[in-house]
Amino acid sequence: MKRNILITGGAGFIGSHVVRLFVNKYPDYRIVNLDKLTYAGNLANLKDIEDRPNYLFERADICDFDRVREIMRKYEIDGVIHLAAESHVDRSIKDPFTFARTNVLGTLSLLQAAREYWNGDWEGKLFYHISTDEVYGALELTNPEGVEPPFTTTASSSEHHLAYGRDFFYEDTKYNPHSPYSASKASSDHFVRAFHDTYGMPTIVTNCSNNYGPYQFPEKLIPLFINNIRHGRPLPVYGKGENVRDWLYVEDHARAIDLIFHKGRVADTYNIGGFNEWKNIDLIKVIIRTVDRLLGNAEGTSEHLITYVTDRAGHDLRYAIDSSKLQRELGWEPSLQFEEGIEKTVRWYLDNQAWMDNITSGDYERYYDEMYRNR
Ligand code: NAD
Ligand code: DAU
Repeated sequence: MKRNILITGGAGFIGSHVVRLFVNKYPDYRIVNLDKLTYAGNLANLKDIEDRPNYLFERADICDFDRVREIMRKYEIDGVIHLAAESHVDRSIKDPFTFARTNVLGTLSLLQAAREYWNGDWEGKLFYHISTDEVYGALELTNPEGVEPPFTTTASSSEHHLAYGRDFFYEDTKYNPHSPYSASKASSDHFVRAFHDTYGMPTIVTNCSNNYGPYQFPEKLIPLFINNIRHGRPLPVYGKGENVRDWLYVEDHARAIDLIFHKGRVADTYNIGGFNEWKNIDLIKVIIRTVDRLLGNAEGTSEHLITYVTDRAGHDLRYAIDSSKLQRELGWEPSLQFEEGIEKTVRWYLDNQAWMDNITSGDYERYYDEMYRNR
């Protein structure tokens, strides 16, 4: 079947993996990547597929309603996968307005453009919104009687996994965002659901845990620390390093998005996560060990780079997603063990130092001019 799919934020970290998967897997689909190319958008993330006949790029701001409307019409879009967003919590603490503008008003602009273009004919249409587990707030670190975390649990999955608390985020967990970033994402989720309930637009929302893997902007923990270790720079650990995150390899998220886009139930919500909780400081030690080993350094060489710094304001203690609904209903599961995923990830950043150097020097911003401006 032929489809015309608009993927927003396709030049970012997760978006580039989703675009690559769709372009490679569905030669009959026309994939339109709409991205503003903010500091976080990098067309070099898509170098391997940029010449494919089923791939198109449009540089546009999702807040520019007229442009979005024109793009919907021009490409006869029947499916939207919406990833474009401001995504870094620390930036949202410094500049909340930008987050409200892009994440809330930008999402509304896309919804309204889709509603106008589809004009009540919902057959074969879908607006799929990519959200985060951060909208649910933060979980406690709690021990079952006498057991020090992490402990093994079967509470929320068919598999045993390590957990730092009794509770998990479920699809019906009450929203309770704490940062300007998560507040803006929560607001956008509400708008998406409101467009279903008010106008009947077919929508799906998914809430995913922390992603890791190639092409992540080096302001986020894992690529930042890999790059700093390589250059012998300090590793700024917020607070005591005791916060817990649930990590998922980015290609597993992209596979989940593909599955849910094609088989998910309209108006429903799915949580996506790795059942893979790590305390920051333990994760950081794994990264240090892996980078040192791959660089041929003796074990422990870079441990002295760990530097405890002032905690992030409002720092959520623990995130832990229960993704058993997605596993049960659509048969998805993470494909990689964490040790395997981290090894792949560290290798990728070490092997792609030019990509990292381009970003950290700002050179990647020139790539758009060279590749696209005069086409
Ligand atoms: P990212 O910051 O790497 O990429 C965001 C992309 O959106 C960039 O290419 C940027 O240029 C583009 N963009 C930003 N503002 C725009 C605008 N106004 N108009 C058009 N394009 C714009 O983000 P990411 O980490 O890949 O996250 C993608 C989505 O997934 C976001 O919606 C985020 O909230 C969500 N999410 C991320 C994670 C994670 O761990 N990274 C986890 C769960 C959900
Ligand atoms: O949970 C999903 C979310 O994961 C996404 O919605 C966000 O877009 C994404 O950025 C990510 O948010 P986090 O705040 O969890 O990711 P970050 O990589 O910024 O931080 C991970 C943990 O590491 C967090 O507890 C803060 C800590 N940290 C982070 C940085 C950048 C440090 O200790 N030092 C650092 O320098």
